[in-house]
Amino acid sequence: MQSVKPRTVPRAPGAVPLLGHAVKLWRDPLGFLKSLREHGDIVRVDLGTMPMYVVTSAKLVHEVTVTNARSFEKGRFFDRLRPLAGNGLANADGEVHRKHRRMVQPMFSKERIAGYSGIMSGNARALADSWTPGQEIELEQAMAGYAIETLAATMFSTDIGLPAVEAVRENLPVLLKNLLIRAASPKLLDRLPIRANRDFDAAAANLREVIDLVVMTARRSKATDRPDLLSLLLAAQDAESGEALSDTEVRDELSTILFAGAETTAAMLAWTFHELAAHPEVEKQLVAEIQEVVGDRPVTIEHIPRLEGIRRVLDEVIRLHGVTLLMRRTTVPVELSGITFPAGTEVAFSLYAIHRDPGLYAKADSFDPDRWLPERQEAAGLGREAYIPFGAGNRKCIGDRFVWTEATIAIATILARWQLVPAPGHTPKEVASAVAHADRIPMTVKPRTI
Ligand code: HEM
Repeated sequence: MQSVKPRTVPRAPGAVPLLGHAVKLWRDPLGFLKSLREHGDIVRVDLGTMPMYVVTSAKLVHEVTVTNARSFEKGRFFDRLRPLAGNGLANADGEVHRKHRRMVQPMFSKERIAGYSGIMSGNARALADSWTPGQEIELEQAMAGYAIETLAATMFSTDIGLPAVEAVRENLPVLLKNLLIRAASPKLLDRLPIRANRDFDAAAANLREVIDLVVMTARRSKATDRPDLLSLLLAAQDAESGEALSDTEVRDELSTILFAGAETTAAMLAWTFHELAAHPEVEKQLVAEIQEVVGDRPVTIEHIPRLEGIRRVLDEVIRLHGVTLLMRRTTVPVELSGITFPAGTEVAFSLYAIHRDPGLYAKADSFDPDRWLPERQEAAGLGREAYIPFGAGNRKCIGDRFVWTEATIAIATILARWQLVPAPGHTPKEVASAVAHADRIPMTVKPRTI
C-alpha cells in the first residue's frame, strides 16, 4: 500500500485558533474522547498548536503498544511527569526501561504479592472496624486512604519509613489532584504564581525530600533485609549487568509506584461500591459468595481465586471506568492504517473510549459483570485486543496482580460487614484524571444483617 501523509488524517471538529481542541478537552474530556471514533480510526486533535494523533480502534492500539512498540517512546505526557517521578519505570525509555523493568518485576511476583496480602487484609479490616452503624462516609476519600496506606505500608515496613508514610499521606492527594491538568497544559503555566502551583510545588518538594532521606537512612543502616519495596529496590541487582540502582533511581521508582498505584486503585474501588449499590442483585450474589468462600475469617490470598464473582465485577468496573488517555511519540517513521507518521509524532489512545466501543461490546455503557462469564465471552468473540485495562506489550502495568489482590481483599472484607447505601439526592459525576474517577460518592454504612 502506498503511504500517505498525516495531512490527510481527519481533524476532530470544534478546534479554535491557538487553543485547538483544548476547550473541548477541558469541558468534557470523556465525551470528547469517545466521540472521536465517529471520525475515523486515526483522528487529529490539537493541544494548543501541537497536533496529537488519536488512534480510536483496538486493532491500532495493539499496533502501537505491542506489534510496533519499539518504534515509540512515551512522549509529551510523560515528559511533564519527569519532574515528579524522574526516570522511574513509567517514564523511562529504551535500555533504561528494559533494565529497570527486569529489576523491579520480581517485586511483583506471585510469591511477593502473597507476602503483601497480609498488609492488604489488615488495612481492609482496620477500615471496616473504623466505621460505626449509620455513619456517613465520603467513599472516594475512604478508598484513597486505603490505597495510599496499603502502598505506603508495602513500601516501608520499618520505623525508618514512618516519615515517608506520613509525607505520602499528606502530599500525594495534593499532587494527584493536579497531575493531569499539569501534564496536559503548557509548561509556561507551571510558573504562574497561583495557589494551585504553589501547593503542587511544595508537596512535590516535600515528598521528594522525605523519600530521599528515608532511602539514604535505610542504605546507611543496611536495613535491606525486609521484604518491603524499599529494601528490595536497595538490594536489587541487574542479572545481566550486575548493576544496582542509585539512591535517586530508588526514589524515582518509589514515587512512580505511588503515582501509578494510588488514584487508579482508589477510583476502581469507589466505583465498585457505587455499581453494587445500584445493582443489588449483583451485590447479593457477591455477599453469598463471600460467605461461602471466606465465612467470618479474615480474607487471605488463598481465597482470591475462588472469589470469581468479585473478579467479574472488577473486570466490568475497570472496563467502564478506566484509564483516560495514554500517549506515545514515534522515534522513527511509523506507518499506521496506510499513513506514514514522521519521527517525533505524538500519538494517543484512550482505554476508556476503547472499552466503551459499541462495535466491541453489546450495551457498551451498561454495567453487566456477567458478560465476563466464560460462555458469554466466547459467544461475543472478544479478542484480547479489545480488553486492555492495564495496557499491553512491554509497558503493561506492573501492578496488575497487586491491585487485583488488594481490591478483592478490600471488597470481600467490607461487603461481609457493611452495606454501603448511597446518600439520597446525589448522582456521582465522572471526572477525568489519570482514570475516570467520581467527583464524590457519599454513602451511609449499615451493618449487614444477612
Ligand atoms: C486499577 C488500578 C490500575 C490501573 C487501571 C493501571 C493501569 C496502568 C496502565 C494502563 C499502564 C500502562 C501505561 C502505558 O502504557 O503508558 C500502567 C503502567 C504502570 N503501572 Fe499501573 N495501573 C493500576 C494500578 C497500579 C498499581 C497498584 C501499581 C503499583 C503498585 C502500578 C504501577 C504501574 C507502573 C510502575 C507502570 C509503568 C510500567 C512500565 O512502563 O514498565 N499500577 N498501569
